[in-house]
Amino acid sequence: MQVLVTGGAGYIGSHTVVELINAGHQVIIVDDLSNAKASVVDRIQIITGVRPQFYQLDCCSSELINVFRLNKVDAVIHFAAFKAVGESVQKPLEYYRNNINSTLMLLEAMEAGGCKNLVFSSSATVYGPNNPHPYKEDMPAIQSSSPYGWTKVMIERILTDYVAVHPDFCAVLLRYFNPIGAHDSALLGDDPNGIPNNLMPYIGRVAAGKLDHLTIFGGDYETPDGTCLRDYIHVVDLAVGHVKALEYAQHNRGVEAINLGAGVGVSVLDLVKTFERVNGITLPYIIGPRRSGDLPAFWADAEKAKKLLNWQAVHTLDDMCISAWKYAQNESNY
Ligand code: UFG
Repeated sequence: MQVLVTGGAGYIGSHTVVELINAGHQVIIVDDLSNAKASVVDRIQIITGVRPQFYQLDCCSSELINVFRLNKVDAVIHFAAFKAVGESVQKPLEYYRNNINSTLMLLEAMEAGGCKNLVFSSSATVYGPNNPHPYKEDMPAIQSSSPYGWTKVMIERILTDYVAVHPDFCAVLLRYFNPIGAHDSALLGDDPNGIPNNLMPYIGRVAAGKLDHLTIFGGDYETPDGTCLRDYIHVVDLAVGHVKALEYAQHNRGVEAINLGAGVGVSVLDLVKTFERVNGITLPYIIGPRRSGDLPAFWADAEKAKKLLNWQAVHTLDDMCISAWKYAQNESNY
């Protein structure tokens, strides 16, 4: 299949492009490089031996339609979005404008190009604060705690409404839990601009001596060790999940939400200790106050992905910590 990947130079996007190429698909990347580097395309070529087509383009631009005019696109994986939870609280209009508009432009361009298969990058954040864990796809997913999260809720709604009147369309909504880790080559990984907000890139910079210590946000939650529980998933497993979702979209119609998680809750302290053990280093950390908006614990019910996609996470927490550290040590990444 010829697959258009929006945001294909980003963290999850680039790993997915590699797995798509490995599975024999042709890939077209559309990325405006607002939060990614052009060198990622070179690195994908080094890893796979294949250079994907690349358009440096904002998905909100009316030029997006030309990509569909110039290429026969069989399916789209839509990653392109602003994704920093905290920043979205400060800049709600930018987040709503960018994330919603890009999806609307994309759907219009897909319609013009006759493309009817879409895999959308959603998030566990759509389960909101009130559902019990583990989160299951049939629970209400209509609430979030940040403008970023609300854009995911709204786009899931937009796609559901769109499919209701386009029964020949397939939209798979992949709800990710906490992707961490990096490609084994250490050429692709999570490399946010500035000081990282997410746990693993922050740990990587502390381990590399670029930041002096980690602050664990809250040690007094009602969890076994007092720190928050999350469902960490290796980014390569997540990428493979997208390839499987694409194959599903080829043979099915309608809208389907599917969790991509490992299905287990791991505490912040567990992750820190694992990182120290497998990499043989000591991570300086302190336990600080809770971070506003954090939920104490959530993880996925991962059965639906197993059943519909024949997919499950195979990498261990050790693998995630080893690959993340290998990537953080590769100076050419900075
Ligand atoms: N944490 C720390 N110190 C840090 C950074 C994080 O202790 O410096 C803790 C957090 O408090 C949380 C855990 O590490 O308990 C994971 O935090 P992340 O920021 O890595 O991830 P979140 O679970 O907050 O966010 C993830 C996704 C978002 C999504 C959100 C809600 O990254 O895209 O889940 O589902 F919106």
